[in-house]
Amino acid sequence: MVKPDGVERGLVGEVISRLERAGFRLEKIRMLRIDGQLADRHYAEHVDKPFYPDLRKFITRGPVVAMQWSGDGVIMSCRSLMGPTDPADAPPGTIRGDYGLAITENVVHGSDSAESADRELRIYFS
Ligand code: RTP
Ligand code: MG
Repeated sequence: MVKPDGVERGLVGEVISRLERAGFRLEKIRMLRIDGQLADRHYAEHVDKPFYPDLRKFITRGPVVAMQWSGDGVIMSCRSLMGPTDPADAPPGTIRGDYGLAITENVVHGSDSAESADRELRIYFS
């Protein structure tokens, strides 16, 4: 997913290009505005964390681009292409290392396991 900061800054094409050049295939794409209720579903594992109010405000402030990608090892490879959660720790050449501004505003989200990918794809594409 390209988060609101990535959409605002015109980075949707850049994110798609990087994943395509890495050999992955874009299967589905959808632009939508996440509301508070959907944020709580998407980030169910984080709703009780101290950073969640900021995350909720951020993820609901403008449209996001949700995508389904396929390819060998796509989940873990995407996480590598994105880089660590905090852009300050993300090396150059990763999406967050090159474009992330802060730990909350880190441009992209990626499912972290096959189970979370299934769960999230059901949320955005069913
Ligand atoms: P994501 O779920 O968005 O792909 O990111 P992630 O796995 O790398 O990080 P995760 O721990 O799942 O956190 C989800 C998102 O919450 C925001 N966050 N803020 N202020 C903080 O300490 C903090 N920690 C996490 C980030 O937007 C992070 O991507
Ligand atoms: Mg996560």
